Amino acid sequence: MSRIVLAYSGGLDTSVLLKKLIAQGHEVVALTANLGESDAVAGDGAAAELEAVRAKALALGALDAVVVDARERFVREYVMPALAANVMYEGMYPLSAALSRPLIAALLVETAHRYGADAVAHGCTGKGNDQVRIELGVRGLDPGIAVRAPLRESPLSRPDAIAYANAHGIPIAHTAAKPYSIDANLWGRSIEAGVLEDPWHGVPEDAYAWTASPAARPAHADEVVLAFDGGALRQAQGDTALRQAQGDTGALRQAQGDTVDTVAMVAWLNAVAGRHGVGRIDLVEDRVIGVKSREVYEAPAATVLIAARKALERLTLTRDELRFKATSDQKYAELSYDGLWLSPLRTALDAFNASFAPRITGEVRVRLHQGSAVVTGVRSPFALYDEALATYGAGDAFDHAAAGGFITCYGLPLDRVARLHAAPALA
Ligand code: ARG
Repeated sequence: MSRIVLAYSGGLDTSVLLKKLIAQGHEVVALTANLGESDAVAGDGAAAELEAVRAKALALGALDAVVVDARERFVREYVMPALAANVMYEGMYPLSAALSRPLIAALLVETAHRYGADAVAHGCTGKGNDQVRIELGVRGLDPGIAVRAPLRESPLSRPDAIAYANAHGIPIAHTAAKPYSIDANLWGRSIEAGVLEDPWHGVPEDAYAWTASPAARPAHADEVVLAFDGGALRQAQGDTALRQAQGDTGALRQAQGDTVDTVAMVAWLNAVAGRHGVGRIDLVEDRVIGVKSREVYEAPAATVLIAARKALERLTLTRDELRFKATSDQKYAELSYDGLWLSPLRTALDAFNASFAPRITGEVRVRLHQGSAVVTGVRSPFALYDEALATYGAGDAFDHAAAGGFITCYGLPLDRVARLHAAPALA
């Protein structure tokens, strides 16, 4: 017998798992993390729902059941560093599920230490990315803790799970057959399985929950202004019309040193951009274990914030920084996706991003309309952009004559090669 901390969602699979581990004679502590799944858009909390999950675990015989409100930590320690790297796996997926797994692993380890448990368990299958992320997350923090993956050892079919639940008094939510597998947190919602498994099949409207369908989107556009300060998101506010429509609540500021409101800003952006249908993503992606899968995401806030941050970087970073950062950002997304959040390389890339963070200061205007988020304006006290150098109009300060000498030197290698090839010996 041992004491095990189980990552517990309150759903059918992890409830069956909880019962089975207890039946095998283990003491089980159920751990549930609140990552904003229920209030990523509405922002009104999910206390009652989470209390029900806790009560369910205790009723099923858990030694204890812990619910951790990890929203602020998720945004501060995982989402914001990832935003600094403009994370987009395979160019399209802002890594909502992927960023949450190392945090769940950390919470499992911390809870195991607190309860003197020697093992942790999760309900991931053997086919997905999440088993890799959680297990590497645990090993990277405390290699002495054993990780159990019961659903990998003996996969649980849905009929088997229901039969076991009925036989063991596990209440089953009386919802109709779930058409998709969903995972959600403040940074995004992922939808997979069901009819989506055929990549030729379009995404049915009922797959979406955070983004308005084309028919339901407002005819007018809204503009939001995002303020960054030293690399940190400081303020998100709507234009006058949007503020009026929202009863003047459309401005959210993160005071200096006050870390609480980033969660509210992300939730607010999900709601405002989601209303315009912004952030729908549909791709066939490459899982860590080698399988390709069709995944659909809704990530309104991530879509807007990454577009805004990139615009500010283009204005304030040097050409070489931008070119190198494109490579480094891609590596950051791959490490995060692949379960290597705790890799020292990821920490090194954080340090790279922190090195120019002071210059990531300024404001970006983003127009939300009919499914798109378009940057319409950007300004910064650290802009390297200089209108006097760029202008084709009056007041041009650029030294045109200098360009001639530059091209002579810059083209010398081409000049040499062309002359060599023209020589008779090589013809
Ligand atoms: N494919 C995504 C990832 O690996 C999302 C997986 C989330 N799980 C789900 N049941 N939809 O990060």
